[in-house]
Amino acid sequence: MRKDLRQAVIAGNWKMNKTRPEAKALIEELKPIAKDKTCGVVICVPFTNLETALSLTEGTNIKVGAENCHFEKSGAYTGEISADMLAEMGVEYVILGHSERRQYFAETDETVNKRTKAALAAGLKPIVCVGELLWERECNITEEVIARQIKLDFYDISTDDLKKCIIAYEPVWAIGTGKTATAEQAQEVCKFIRDTLAKLYDKATADAVTIQYGGSMNEKNCAELLSKEDVDGGLIGGASLVAEKFGVLLEEASK
Ligand code: 13P
Repeated sequence: MRKDLRQAVIAGNWKMNKTRPEAKALIEELKPIAKDKTCGVVICVPFTNLETALSLTEGTNIKVGAENCHFEKSGAYTGEISADMLAEMGVEYVILGHSERRQYFAETDETVNKRTKAALAAGLKPIVCVGELLWERECNITEEVIARQIKLDFYDISTDDLKKCIIAYEPVWAIGTGKTATAEQAQEVCKFIRDTLAKLYDKATADAVTIQYGGSMNEKNCAELLSKEDVDGGLIGGASLVAEKFGVLLEEASK
């Protein structure tokens, strides 16, 4: 077991949920629950909640992330937020290449690569999402899809920078559908990601990278998923919006 080489991280992805008062209430509930947990605890919140999240989590073990950033430093990109803007606020993490961004906002591996480089240059820790569509799994090309995403998303990213990244394996067919990948399927692809990194970088680097599973992971199925050797935590949507449920995930990842 090589789990000792890397930290388990549970990250909430709030997506487009929670007004400011709702965010405040959830964070206040989370603080005592997260306290003393040994796994990494991250909440990735809408841009409008970053200030609230940063001030309420100050001095706690809860880290704050954003859900995306643009790849340019500044300029005429109406509606976008740069990595520097996030870093300057004190944000530590940023989700990049989430399948919802790829599906609904036409993000490509090329722009995910640019965003990852911009985030790293600003000192942020990217949580880079990869995952196959149901159709791709049915056509038996899951590994080809994942290898391509890993190669393109991390193109020209140094070993030192890769170590600052988290990779989230999120099969698109499991997101928000209630259909979780089996623990065996999650392990198989997380291991494949690690083997791909070992080929592109080296084994020690691959062993040091935190690889999360995401997709309908919740308080009921997390124990089995997190018990797998190459599953180092989770990127959690729905279950991160309810403090007690998120707490069960933190508890399990801290064992
Ligand atoms: P759900 O946990 O709601 O399926 O969402 C997963 C996800 O997309 C996390 O980024």
